[in-house]
Amino acid sequence: MSDSSPAIEVRELAKTYAGVTAVNKVSFTVGQGEIIGFLGPNGAGKSTTMRILTGFLPATSGSVEICGHSVAADPAAIKRLIGYMPENNPLPEDMRVGEYLHYRGRLKEISRKKLGPRIDEVLELCDLKRVRHRIIGKLSKGYRQRVGIADAVLAEPPVIIMDEPTIGLDPHQILIVRDLIASLRGRMTVIISSHILPEIEMTCDRVLIINQGRVVAAGTPAALRKEFLGANRYDLEVAGDPAELGALLTSLDPDVAVEEAAEPDADGFRKIVFTAPSGDIREALWSALAKDSRFRVRGLGRSRHTLEDVFLAATRRSWDATDAPASRPANVA
Ligand SMILES: Nc1ncnc2c1ncn2[C@@H]1O[C@H](COP(=O)(O)OP(=O)(O)O)[C@@H](O)[C@H]1O
Ligand SMILES: [Mg+2]
Repeated sequence: MSDSSPAIEVRELAKTYAGVTAVNKVSFTVGQGEIIGFLGPNGAGKSTTMRILTGFLPATSGSVEICGHSVAADPAAIKRLIGYMPENNPLPEDMRVGEYLHYRGRLKEISRKKLGPRIDEVLELCDLKRVRHRIIGKLSKGYRQRVGIADAVLAEPPVIIMDEPTIGLDPHQILIVRDLIASLRGRMTVIISSHILPEIEMTCDRVLIINQGRVVAAGTPAALRKEFLGANRYDLEVAGDPAELGALLTSLDPDVAVEEAAEPDADGFRKIVFTAPSGDIREALWSALAKDSRFRVRGLGRSRHTLEDVFLAATRRSWDATDAPASRPANVA
């Protein structure tokens, strides 16, 4: 194991529960210090993959190495290398926060001498100082999630795996947890799962989109956008005849496609969203519109595709590649 070896190496991982394939030959590598997001709908196989990575569930086939240690062959080492916050973050209701972290620290074999100062540090990091003496069962969901994260990072393991760390939180609590995860950047390798797109996009260096037990796309949010959506997308606010505008756009890029065109407002301006697959046409469009008395312009900008667009395109492509349409879930077009 050298410093440059990957933190996590997963090869052809598969898991079948009584005939149901939950994870289907998943392979990926996570570099040291990376923050990775598992993104996928419910039932995609995210939790199953995480349970196998942490050694809580045996794989049906395939292999996992954490910092060079095989999960199957060396489960005791794996427990020391990974801080894990399982799905639903189970916590003992009747313990106090400080007590619980002390108990967990002893289980993780942190020496008594180091444990006190480390608990202080973790309470500070997770903004839990105020609730140190409170009973866990009486805490809000946001505090409970942070207690789960505090436990995961307590022994300073090189790898942190958190299953849906922001599920059930309100937007303010999500922000706090997101900042907390971001503060681990560079210090630890982190995998978090979510079925909510923006939080993954903002926190993660790289995203694995998982669907029906397979990795259907992987990359930075920007690279995924490019791979699945390609074209540049623009927002234009303009007054003028739509057909004449269409002709002008087509003269700049013959493959322009209008996605949305709103009704004109009282001043005759309408918002139009369109894509143009060739390079950035903003400058050419702006000067063409400015010179042309048939049009008036209020705004022109590039609009970003959301990760949700990428997610839908990636899952759709995987269904197209693997399944007859009849076996698709009814809620996916
Ligand atoms: N203990 C289990 N026994 C049988 N099937 C399971 C079990 N756990 C999960 N599954 C099935 O495996 C698939 C993947 O589930 P899971 O890993 O929990 O997905 P996710 O976390 O992405 O929602 C689902 O079809 C689920 O019903
Ligand atoms: Mg899950």
